Amino acid sequence: MSSASNTAKKTVEFEVAHLVPGMELADDIISEYGKVLCSKGSIINQSLIDKFLTWDINKVPVISEININPIADPNVQKFINSYNKSVSVVQKAFDDIRQTQEIPMSTFENTASSITDNVSSASQMIDQLYNLPPCDDYTFRHCVNVSAIAALIATWLKSPPEIVNAVSLAALLHDVGKSQLPVELLKQGSRLSPSEYSTYKAHVLHGIELARKTPGISRSIVSGIGHHHEREDGSGYPKGLMGKEIHPYAKIIAVADLYDEALTINSTSEDALSPYQSLEKLRAQIPKVDAKTSLIFIDKMTDFLSGNIVALTDGRQARVVFTNKEYPSRSIVQFEDGVVLDLSQSNLSIHYIVR
Ligand SMILES: [Fe+2]
Repeated sequence: MSSASNTAKKTVEFEVAHLVPGMELADDIISEYGKVLCSKGSIINQSLIDKFLTWDINKVPVISEININPIADPNVQKFINSYNKSVSVVQKAFDDIRQTQEIPMSTFENTASSITDNVSSASQMIDQLYNLPPCDDYTFRHCVNVSAIAALIATWLKSPPEIVNAVSLAALLHDVGKSQLPVELLKQGSRLSPSEYSTYKAHVLHGIELARKTPGISRSIVSGIGHHHEREDGSGYPKGLMGKEIHPYAKIIAVADLYDEALTINSTSEDALSPYQSLEKLRAQIPKVDAKTSLIFIDKMTDFLSGNIVALTDGRQARVVFTNKEYPSRSIVQFEDGVVLDLSQSNLSIHYIVR
């Protein structure tokens, strides 16, 4: 988990062989004859470590800064419950749309409000969504993830609450046109033939069509859906719009969509990226996606990514102690033995988040 607010001080029994100078003793060390060998609160140095070994002491209690189990945080628990519920609601809504060709707007509106309400109080959870067990409901999870991320970005851009809600709703609906695609095509992930890819791209037009015939839907929501694959340089689809022609909601959705897609598409395969790599990939897309939106997202997200325990490309685990905002996967990490490594000065990088 990330940020200092998620850590707490706790007493941990530490093997003397793994002690690092600077740690604080959590309790008195008493000899077998009842004599205090070293008192509580002492700061451990190398000579004290040597003495423990001489005294044949294998383990000592030290004050350790540990991560609080995020599940124990009521806000995070509430977010996970609401997240799982949202995924099933969206899945059922897509089934209904296939049958009726109508968007159940009140269902999407209620789900978007619930996502918006919960995400602000559990924003530190956003980098952990990808540690949930893999499943085949990618399309629906993706809608909920993009809605949550888009709501956060809109908040970080200091949008008023009604805009945050509208962006979250547009994001929840952004891929609604996928309800008109063959299910097998959706399950194929990114490995599509050219003809399958053109069928896939039609989800945007299907989405616009479904939205336009929905009573009471705002034009902004329709544009959010219709422009989410447009790119700043005109390289997107379906219209090849550029810069200011692209609706502001769609600019936010595009960033959330690219970030989430890199993380979750084929998430069971080795191609799946960690949030660190996905942010790097997003930064590389800046000529194509709105710079202000993507930079504020990368900046805030890298703060969340500090503090995580990660696995490196050589298999070793370490804690991220300082995030490299330019190249998040090449951040500064610390191993359990206290050794600090600047990954940007090595040929290693962060492979995935352990917790
Ligand atoms: Fe899409």
